[in-house]
Amino acid sequence: MDDSLWCRVERYHQDLLVGVDPDLEQIVQDSRRAGLPEIQVTSVQGKFLEIMARLLRSQDILEVGTLGGYSTAWLARGMVPDGRLVTLELVPEYAEFARSNLARIGFSEAIEIRVGDAVESLRDLRAEGYRPFDLIFLDGNKAQYPDYLDGVIELSRPGTLIIADNVVRDGAIVHEDSDDPRVLGVREFNRKIAGDLRLSATALQTVGSKGYDGFSMIFVSGE
Ligand code: DHB
Ligand code: MG
Repeated sequence: MDDSLWCRVERYHQDLLVGVDPDLEQIVQDSRRAGLPEIQVTSVQGKFLEIMARLLRSQDILEVGTLGGYSTAWLARGMVPDGRLVTLELVPEYAEFARSNLARIGFSEAIEIRVGDAVESLRDLRAEGYRPFDLIFLDGNKAQYPDYLDGVIELSRPGTLIIADNVVRDGAIVHEDSDDPRVLGVREFNRKIAGDLRLSATALQTVGSKGYDGFSMIFVSGE
C-alpha cells in the first residue's frame, strides 16, 4: 500500500472500522507467498461484501472467480449459520490453494469450489436445479461478464443482489474505442443490464490500495 491520500484513508478505515482478522490476513500473506496475483479485494471491500451478505440474510451465495479464497471468506462470514456458498474458479491450482485456506478457517463444509470455465459451471448449477442464490459476486474474467450475467440471472430470483467487481478500471470503461477485452466485456455487460427490464442497477467508483475501480450493484427486481 503506498502513501497516497487514498491509501492513507483506506488504512484509516481499515484500522478503525474493519480491523485485522488474523485468519483473513493469513490468506493474503499466503497468497503473496504462493505467487498469486495480488488482485483480491481490499479488507474494507471484503467487509462491505460481508455486510451485504448479512443484510440479505444470505443462505445461498455464489461467487465467480475464487482466486485464493479471500473474498470468498468475507462473503461466507456474512452468511446465516447454515448458509452455503458456491465459488467458481478456472485455475485448478488456485482452487486447491483456496480449498486449503478455507478449510483452515472452518469453511470446508459450507463452501463448494467448482473448477472449470464458469460459464459451464453456471450451466451445470442450473441443470442440477440449484435453488436461487441470494447474493452473487462476479469477479472472474471480465471479458466473460456478459456471459456470466446470462448464467447468473438464471440462478436468481426477484430480490437477488448481484455485485460485480472491476467495472471502472482506472476509468477505461468510458473509452468507447478501447480494444481491451476486459473493457469491451464490462461495456457489453452494462448494455445488457440496461436493456433488461428485470434488473435495476447502479455502480459505485472506488479508490484505494487497489487503484481506481468500482463495483456494480445489480438488483433483480422482476421475473
Ligand atoms: C484484475 C482482476 C481483478 O478481479 C481485480 O480486482 C483487479 C485486477 C486483473 O485481472 O487485472
Ligand atoms: Mg476483482
